[in-house]
Amino acid sequence: MERKYVIKGGKPLKGEIEVSGAKNAALPAICATLLAPGVYKLKNFPKVRDVFNMLKIMESLGATYEFKKDYVEINTEKVERVFIPYELASQMRASILFLGALVGGFKSAVVPMPGGCAIGKRPVDFHIKGISQLGANIQLEKGNLVVSAKKLKGTQIVLDFPSVTATENLMMAASLAEGETIIKNSAKEPEVIFLGEMLKKMGAEIKGLGEDTIYIKGKKKLNPVNIEIIPDRIEAGTYLVLGALMEENEVIVKNIEKEHLKTPILKLEEIGVALEEVGKNALKVKRGKTLNPVKIITAPYPGFPTDLQPFFTILLTQAEGISFITENIFENRFLYVYELKRMGAEIEVENRTAIIKGPTSLMGSPVKATDLRAGAALVLAGLVVEDVTTVYNVEFIERGYENFVEKLLSLGADIKIEEDES
Ligand code: UD1
Repeated sequence: MERKYVIKGGKPLKGEIEVSGAKNAALPAICATLLAPGVYKLKNFPKVRDVFNMLKIMESLGATYEFKKDYVEINTEKVERVFIPYELASQMRASILFLGALVGGFKSAVVPMPGGCAIGKRPVDFHIKGISQLGANIQLEKGNLVVSAKKLKGTQIVLDFPSVTATENLMMAASLAEGETIIKNSAKEPEVIFLGEMLKKMGAEIKGLGEDTIYIKGKKKLNPVNIEIIPDRIEAGTYLVLGALMEENEVIVKNIEKEHLKTPILKLEEIGVALEEVGKNALKVKRGKTLNPVKIITAPYPGFPTDLQPFFTILLTQAEGISFITENIFENRFLYVYELKRMGAEIEVENRTAIIKGPTSLMGSPVKATDLRAGAALVLAGLVVEDVTTVYNVEFIERGYENFVEKLLSLGADIKIEEDES
């Protein structure tokens, strides 16, 4: 069965849309439950494919989980296995987060080495190097990273690049290491800070969250906790761009953490999109007749997020003039541009920069999602054009967007899910 979305665009979208919990915060939080056996309650939990996949992996280790009214309960009391099955891990790169969690909690782990990926090479060398520096032995055996440690010992680790999941892995392992670990050039993303706060609540002593250097004093034992997942800033950014795509749109995005979206919000304002506060965590999107072209360069937080890059490309096809987007995080993140060009977009990619000429009236056409964010961005493009756009490979989108189609339908979009026999 192949799933696709069939979109008839050009309709004004009006109404309120609620942002879900952040996938990239839920994933490390699930793994962190392996650091202290017990019962955890996770609120504002996003029901998306990647997260379900991670829960399945947890089950294979011996954990149980149950969805309650407004939280998921994870029980790690009976976890006794440290072997992550390839079939489940190969579906998501975030399974590398089991490395730090299992080595921290069990001093032993067998985690499939992630392969290549649609948006770039995405090696895991920083993860491996950092975990070894904490005193673990890591060997590659038959495609698996096989890790064992008598004990973990705090040390100073310098990351070559502020990698999000490498910082998270090291924070988890260091929370149960002996003595102090110092992570230099650490990632500052809100999801990293969120995990750090969770580990602190569990009993770890952590300083420097959101700064270049994180200091972690490990503990002999941590405790289970109840936490609330932060709102998904990338999902929020997706809907802010959606609201700005057509002048007739009247979209209010709720459950937004504005602090986490400072840079994309500034860019939207530069483009000519006003965001009006309507209540504590809600923004109303308003735009004028014309949009301005801009330059965007993706960078680690607090820079412009790579995950929002494809949405801004779509928006800038509607701006008056030439825009430039430079992708600095992943080397292969412009594949979707070739799909967008089939819809009539005038974009050239030179090395790591997309040069976007606007405004263009896009045409409906069949296109395929090349990754999670690119897939959602193509749906947004489809919502602008008056004829029919069919987006294939939507499984990518469902990995990270909760109720995507339902949320768009609630704004008045004409979008249908169809399944083909294949
Ligand atoms: C996380 C997010 C992903 C987001 C990305 C960048 C999760 C589960 N995923 O991915 O959605 O797009 O941050 O914001 O949170 N690198 C190495 N060696 C390593 C690790 C990374 O060279 O060992 C490179 C990567 O190839 C990339 C850069 O560092 O060029 C940043 O990647 P990183 O921050 O690690 O991204 P992820 O943690 O994989």
